[in-house]
Amino acid sequence: MSDCHIPGIEPVYSGKVRDIYDLGDALLLVATDRISAYDVVLPQAIPDKGAILTQLTKFWFEQLPTSIEHHMLSTDAADLPGPFQAAARSWGPRFMKVKKLSMVPIECVVRGYLVGSGWKEYQDRGTVCGIGLPTGLEEAARLDHPIFTPATKAEVGDHDENISSEAAGGLVGDDLVRDLEQRSIQVFEFGREWARERGLILADTKFEFGRVGGTGTPILADEVLTADSSRYWPADLYRPGGSPPSFDKQYVRDFLSSSGWSGAGSPPDLPPAVIDGTSQRYQELYHRITGESWSGKV
Ligand SMILES: Nc1ncnc2c1ncn2[C@@H]1O[C@H](COP(=O)(O)OP(=O)(O)OP(=O)(O)O)[C@@H](O)[C@H]1O
Ligand SMILES: [Mg+2]
Repeated sequence: MSDCHIPGIEPVYSGKVRDIYDLGDALLLVATDRISAYDVVLPQAIPDKGAILTQLTKFWFEQLPTSIEHHMLSTDAADLPGPFQAAARSWGPRFMKVKKLSMVPIECVVRGYLVGSGWKEYQDRGTVCGIGLPTGLEEAARLDHPIFTPATKAEVGDHDENISSEAAGGLVGDDLVRDLEQRSIQVFEFGREWARERGLILADTKFEFGRVGGTGTPILADEVLTADSSRYWPADLYRPGGSPPSFDKQYVRDFLSSSGWSGAGSPPDLPPAVIDGTSQRYQELYHRITGESWSGKV
């Protein structure tokens, strides 16, 4: 399902993955099966992806300590206004009614390992988001402590940019950045321990927070510890010195780069085997994290 439109009701926002409806005092987040790479939405959808992302996020919200306030209000169609109920039932378990927040305009990235854009910056400058790290680390090296490495939240069509905590403080205030850092690391540590007990490494992840009316306590929002927002590796395949296979979009990215596309111009069509292989990876991550098989959920 690549869009979740309701006849006669316009979404207030359509992101790369989610269609969002305004319910007055709340929002309805609907995760479609769209998949993006290099910030471009690919032509094919991945079966069940949106439902898996929503259900995994719901799972984490239910596991997290209650001290971490989150935005989930309900995943029951009966709790939606009348005009939304029939559509929501037809979508399957891909929607979540959430608190309407004013989002803090930075992405709260936490890294436990040196990969991706962090590895790139480390190779160039020996730092990640301005944080100095020991010399001689290999790609995918485990860091002694998880680090908070914020990024700007790019406008549509643009790429997020890694920034220092000082620069993040300049954007939203130092006190708020310290609070977000502490919350982000706490959720990351919780997720990483959970994952570790299940044979998975949570290498890094991205959180988004928002505040009611733009003030007060930051509330954990958006999607949480999913394959789209995080890099998970099977622990038994982990070797520093290269990027281990992951449950995130790496599989699709590998296909895209083998076909010669790296973000410029129109993306190629995904062959059925790549679509299926991607769906299988999302399902397997759900199974490994929750202990429940995905099949039969939709
Ligand atoms: N509780 C909330 N209140 C308001 N906005 C939210 C809430 N939770 C998530 N969001 C916003 O909803 C959007 C989710 O849509 P989606 O994930 O498709 O966007 P994206 O493609 O990742 O990012 P974007 O299009 O914003 O660059 C994000 O912009 C996110 O910041
Ligand atoms: Mg998003």
